[in-house]
Parts: sequence; structure tokens; C-alpha cells
Amino acid sequence: MNPPDPSTAPIGVFDSGVGGLTVLKAIRELLPGEDLIYLGDTARLPYGTKSPQSIERYAFKASRHLADRDIKMLVVACNTASAVALDVLRKALAPRPVIGVVDPGAEAATAARPGGRHLVLATETTVRLKAYRRAIVARDPDAQVTEHACELLVALAEEGWLDGDIAAAIVGRYLAEAWPAADPPDSIILGCTHFPLLRPAIRASADPATEIVDSASTAAGVTVTALDEAKLRGQRASGGNLTLLASDGAKRFARVGGRFLGEELDISDVELVDI
Ligand code: DGL
Repeated sequence: MNPPDPSTAPIGVFDSGVGGLTVLKAIRELLPGEDLIYLGDTARLPYGTKSPQSIERYAFKASRHLADRDIKMLVVACNTASAVALDVLRKALAPRPVIGVVDPGAEAATAARPGGRHLVLATETTVRLKAYRRAIVARDPDAQVTEHACELLVALAEEGWLDGDIAAAIVGRYLAEAWPAADPPDSIILGCTHFPLLRPAIRASADPATEIVDSASTAAGVTVTALDEAKLRGQRASGGNLTLLASDGAKRFARVGGRFLGEELDISDVELVDI
């Protein structure tokens, strides 16, 4: 009997919670024939306020769980886990390709505004590790980078308070604190998977000339390249299956995750896993 064709295996996508579904959605649009398994480590969310040691441990466990389900590649659709644990996960999952979302975000921003002044909105740990600063300056040494932690935006997105007075006030305050200068930044990078949901509120608060950048579509493009390089792209043009896993709170995952995915989810669509 022939061994199974590895290109028919699913792509694993992992985040601390539901935010990475914005990345999954972009991958699904580019690769509608691929089977996808998404794992949200909702039992341990948020990662963004935890120590790098804890995040590395959590990310390792989540990716092992996906490896046991025979994924052909892993997309770390969490900025904080990408900032902390990408090298460890690459070693653990070799020879499968493993990509994160920080590099694609930096790529998108430097391509949009070469030599620009970038404001990165992210979690505490992503900011503390200067993950975006390093990724941006490595691509564009003339770029200037300011990073600002915006933890409340994670909670706002989880709660679905995406517009109205409260979202506008919180976004406005973060932007004023992060960028007190009169001259606006060239780009605002949404350096956290949850922030694309708040894009309209951020757009409304930011200067019209400032470009708003997120990594979802660039990360989807990098996924395609990684599959092609490893000769792992599946043959189907459509009809890929989606499996949704969560480590806690299937009901909440379905309710909130549906907003991130852009389609209604039922509790029966989400499998609870112990990782
Ligand atoms: N997924 C995380 C990120 O992109 C945000 C949520 C969390 O802190 O766990 O950084």
C-alpha cells in the first residue's frame, strides 16, 4: 500500500483564543480546498499578559496537539506566541513548515510605507519583546518604530464592543498616549489578532493619511508560499473542511468566534480538547 499523500493533510492554525480566526479566514479565502484545523487555547487566554516562559509552554502544548492530528504545516496565528515561541515551535514540528504573524505584519507595513514611522499596537508581551521593532528594522533600517501595549482592546474585541462611544473613547485614548506628536504616524500596525475587528474604530480615530496594516492577508500569502516550497499544496480547488478546537468554553468560542470568522457558529461546531 502507498503511504498517504502528505499534501492531503490539514493545515494547523493556532491562537490563544478566537482572534486568530481573522488569519484563518484569510487563509480559507486563498486556499478554499485545504482542510484546516484551528485550535484556540481559550483555557489560557490571554497570552499577552503572561511571561515568555508560560507562553512558550502553552504554545508548545497546543502545537503538539495539532501535530498529533497530523497537520502538514502550522500557522501560529497569535502575535504574542509568534513573538515568543516561533523558534521553539519550528524545532518541535520539523520538518513541517511553521510560520508566525509578526514577520508578515512587518512585511506588509514596510512594503506599504518604506522608511516610514510605524506605530505598533500589540499586547504587553509582544511590546516588551520588541518583536515588531526587530522585524521591521531588519527589513527597513530607515524605519522608525513605536510600540504600544493596548490590553483593553483584546477585551473589547472579545466582548464584541467594536463600535459606539466606548470603543471610540478607548481607542482614542490609546492612540493619544501612544502617539502624542502632532505629525501622524505613516502606519498603524494591528499587532494583535484581535485588533482587526476594531479596525473601523481605529480608522475613525487615526489621521486619514495613516495606513492601517494587519498581518492576516500577508500571513495567508506566506502560508501559500510555504506550502508550495515544501510541495505540500493540496490539489482540491474547493470544499476544504474546517475543524474548530478550543481548550475551554465551546459556547463562548462559538458566539465570539463567529464574529471573527464572519459566519455564525454553533456550540456543536466546536470540539473541546484537553491540552
Ligand atoms: N492572540 C493574541 C495576540 O495576537 C491576543 C490575545 C491574547 O493576549 O491572548 O497577541
